[in-house]
Amino acid sequence: MSSFTPKWLAAREPVDARSRAASLVDSLRERLVPHEALAAVDLGAGTGANFRYLAPRLGGLQHWQLVDDDPRLLAAAGNLTRAWAESLGAAYSETENGFALAGKSFESRVRLVTMNLAADLAELAWPESALVTGSALLDLVSESWLRRVAARCRDSTATVLFALTYDGRMHIQPADAGDAQVRMLVNRHQRTDKGFGPALGPTAPDTAAKTLAECGYQVVREPSDWRLGSDDQELRAMLLDGWSRAAATLEGADHGALELWHNRRSRALDNPGTEFLVGHEDLLAWPAAL
Ligand SMILES: C[S@@+](CC[C@H](N)C(=O)[O-])C[C@H]1O[C@@H](n2cnc3c(N)ncnc32)[C@H](O)[C@@H]1O
Repeated sequence: MSSFTPKWLAAREPVDARSRAASLVDSLRERLVPHEALAAVDLGAGTGANFRYLAPRLGGLQHWQLVDDDPRLLAAAGNLTRAWAESLGAAYSETENGFALAGKSFESRVRLVTMNLAADLAELAWPESALVTGSALLDLVSESWLRRVAARCRDSTATVLFALTYDGRMHIQPADAGDAQVRMLVNRHQRTDKGFGPALGPTAPDTAAKTLAECGYQVVREPSDWRLGSDDQELRAMLLDGWSRAAATLEGADHGALELWHNRRSRALDNPGTEFLVGHEDLLAWPAAL
């Protein structure tokens, strides 16, 4: 069971959607072969937010694999997608291993795959020239795992889209004297092992771009920062809790100072003009030879 709850993924989904670099998805769509079915694999798919974002924007016939090691999240992906499909007027049906959708401009067959990608990546098959994608994943993985994925992508001439990779920037305005310490601790926590070996954390955007370029990829990067205002109170409160908890697990953390920071920051959430920025980056890459 992963530490990512359906509640957390639901709180971030609309913010992710408005923050993502739409221009990269436009470029991706232009690269698709017209009238040919798209094969896509979503690594660390969680409850399916990346699929729901991409499927209508890419259009056409699509065969997806949503891969995650948490069966509870994949089960929620089916239920959430059913409700989402209804809101779009798309037909939803369950299949033996997932679900199928028929919308106005897209038709998707989705297979839900429960797999530990850290241990069993080699067992995950995807066709030639597939889209390999993931959102909010790369900062969790290690450099060696990323290298293995990039090599598999190169060998299968995959197109690659990784969205919402955290880049180490977390800023709250107006500033508080404790912010820099919390940011330093959170970014240290980001580098700890999340199951894939030492995590890339804030180095993930640069490392991913470099690794894919070394594998012969043309890489385009765009910011996808979260900017959170007074309409995003639930997510902002969850961030404060998560940052405090993560910082407190580190050796040398001053628990008293963290609690005071959390209290001050929670009280300031209702102040007009409080703004959060969480730095993210999206990356689109395709084999340079194509
Ligand atoms: C931050 S969440 C992002 C989920 C989803 N992509 C989204 O954007 O909402 C990271 C996801 O990676 C999955 N994950 C973490 N470690 C994994 C592993 N070893 N194998 C497969 N999935 C993993 C988690 O279960 C979680 O769903």
